[in-house]
Amino acid sequence: MNEADLKKLLKDLTWQEKVGQLIQLSGDFFSSEEALAVGPKQKLGITQETVDLAGSVLNVAGAKKTREIQEKWLQKSRHKIPLLFMADIVYGYRTVFPIPLGLGATWNPDLIKQAYRVTAAEAKASGVHVTFAPMVDLVRDARWGRCLESTGEDTTLNAAFARAMVTGLQHVELGKITGIAACVKHFAAYGAAEGGREYNTVDMSERRLREDYLPGYKAAVEAGSELVMTSFNTYDGIPVTGNEFLLKQILRDEWGFDGVIISDYAAVLELVAHGIAADEKEATLLAMNATNDIDMKTGCYAKQLEPLVREGKLDSKRIDDAVWRVLKLKNKLGLFEDPYRGASSEREQEMLLTEENRNLAYQVAAQSIVLLENKNHTLPLAKNHQKILLVGPYGDNQNLIGLWAIHGNTSDVITIKEAISQHVSSEQFHYTAGCEMLSDYRFLGEFGGSKDQLMRMPQAKREQALAEALRQGEKADVIIYAMGEHTMQSGEAGSRADITLPDVQKEFIQEMLALGKTNILITISGRPLVLTEEAKQMDAILQAWFPGTEGGRVLADILFGKINPSGRLSMSFPYSVGQLPIYYNGFQTGRPLNSKTHSGRFVSKYLDSPNAPLYPFGYGLSYSYVELSDLALDDVEMTEKLQVSVQVKNNSSRSVLETVQLYVQDIVGSVVRPNRELKKFKKINLEAQESATVHFTLTREDLYYYTKNMDFSVEAGDFNVFVGRNSRDTLQASFTLK
Ligand code: GLC
Repeated sequence: MNEADLKKLLKDLTWQEKVGQLIQLSGDFFSSEEALAVGPKQKLGITQETVDLAGSVLNVAGAKKTREIQEKWLQKSRHKIPLLFMADIVYGYRTVFPIPLGLGATWNPDLIKQAYRVTAAEAKASGVHVTFAPMVDLVRDARWGRCLESTGEDTTLNAAFARAMVTGLQHVELGKITGIAACVKHFAAYGAAEGGREYNTVDMSERRLREDYLPGYKAAVEAGSELVMTSFNTYDGIPVTGNEFLLKQILRDEWGFDGVIISDYAAVLELVAHGIAADEKEATLLAMNATNDIDMKTGCYAKQLEPLVREGKLDSKRIDDAVWRVLKLKNKLGLFEDPYRGASSEREQEMLLTEENRNLAYQVAAQSIVLLENKNHTLPLAKNHQKILLVGPYGDNQNLIGLWAIHGNTSDVITIKEAISQHVSSEQFHYTAGCEMLSDYRFLGEFGGSKDQLMRMPQAKREQALAEALRQGEKADVIIYAMGEHTMQSGEAGSRADITLPDVQKEFIQEMLALGKTNILITISGRPLVLTEEAKQMDAILQAWFPGTEGGRVLADILFGKINPSGRLSMSFPYSVGQLPIYYNGFQTGRPLNSKTHSGRFVSKYLDSPNAPLYPFGYGLSYSYVELSDLALDDVEMTEKLQVSVQVKNNSSRSVLETVQLYVQDIVGSVVRPNRELKKFKKINLEAQESATVHFTLTREDLYYYTKNMDFSVEAGDFNVFVGRNSRDTLQASFTLK
């Protein structure tokens, strides 16, 4: 529809029709039987008339279902304004990729762009118009369950992935969105919830907000994300959904974002629970004045917008502006011309879980898994002369896709056991569970109504399982432990104060270690776990995250050397939960641990724990020995640019995919500066014994930061450059910025 007609449409809408466009309701309001039920409407205090005018639908997907709802809708819609279908498709639709914390570990935004393009194509075929992704919340506290959805702790890396994901999802060609619309979330700084406790307070300086937490969202907005979702948390004492500083001053005025802002689930009404609004009416006024356009799943806008305008408390132009943004989005998606955007069951057959999509999921998982330990070259396993026992709750378990893979099917997943059995004969390989996932499931609560039916094995059965594992272990040379968190122990509302392996699994490992075999741990988790004990006990450790549809196959191929592991951590693994929050790019403090002016006691440290994490940001091993040398700068002084080069040698008999990382330290600033910050990274494939020179170009803009006066600029002075295969083990050089 051309803009003139769209403006005319806006003008022709009645008051109720306008308000309707700003309301998002869940699928049960639109599917025939529930829709007539009073329940859902009563809960929100809205009428059927409101439902009949709502502008968008939450979390309905599938060509058949979306077409049915849309067809019925358009028959009764006076202006034939199509519904917008929005859903949580965070790391894959039917083809499920690794969780974003695993995607971050690929350090490969270009590959991830392809993954999100496939995700968009599958979702579009299934009638979804908008996905609530990418989630770009920077995370530094592994107690928070939603680390799962983040690409990690670094601003530069998160921004690179944010751009890649938005571009992949929307796939704009000749100005048209040929994919689906992205909705970057959760704006802003949700990942800084105090104590890693879900929905908890966020409070930090504006400097830290702008320096560390905002760049990921900004990158997504600059990449063209059509929507932004507000976060549940407060910032500076004001919940984001009613926070004019964040939504209006920064997002709209400073960044020029003129797309749709949608609240997170019920977040408008939650302004009352926060204690910043006395009632729904005040909550509605706060959210509208902050320019939040769509009210997700409450009755606030439906009931309070009209009275607020009538009482002269709200300028009706605010509502027109919000409705205009929603209509523009529908128009950009071509919904007025084709409300189904080509979705059909035939299209789904064609597009979903194709061999090509599976292969891409395999490639991504292959680059996401991180080898954390490999003592005495335990891995890769020799196929022929080792008897292998696989144990643990993830050994023969298809739940490898994680909490937010709502539209994935675990039945598509090849288990680790099945995948290993494709490498070795049944004489050489045996599987027995050995232990259960958890000793108690009741604390998991409910998600999506599916109360977890897994209950404790009876005591006798538990003892039998252990006895069988010990018996089989006696006969084995190698024991592989497929352990980890239950799916519902991470993701939204998955905060944990103890982030070690579940007790029942730790106890089982202790029993098995007594056999004195070669021990390999595979961890399936939605967060960095505390693996300090396992790091001592295990000969090898593979951090697999929730590796997605192809995860089982990839893990077996890594175990037997078909894949040379190349993942590099995008989030630090703590030595203990007491260190949290922990991140690589902290400040020196006045008494750094290596202080020469203070005795060993009076420095910034713990009495009972190292400062350093168990595994640092950027860390990961491979089956090769890669050496960096000859770090060189093309000058000792820099004005606009500086060329940096380093030699990389693959001293091994197999090819390797290495990630070379460049960090910078601004030694003296008008405010304290991080001891190092990632500025550049490059992946390079090296054949056996191959050497190469990796080049980087540092620019003046790369060094910009928020100075004492909050100017985004840089001051002349001395800088260090660090180049390495992780944030800790690096070569060093220095230069002076003029
Ligand atoms: C949830 C999540 C958000 C999701 C939304 C819709 O509470 O916070 O990430 O997109 O509700 O399901």
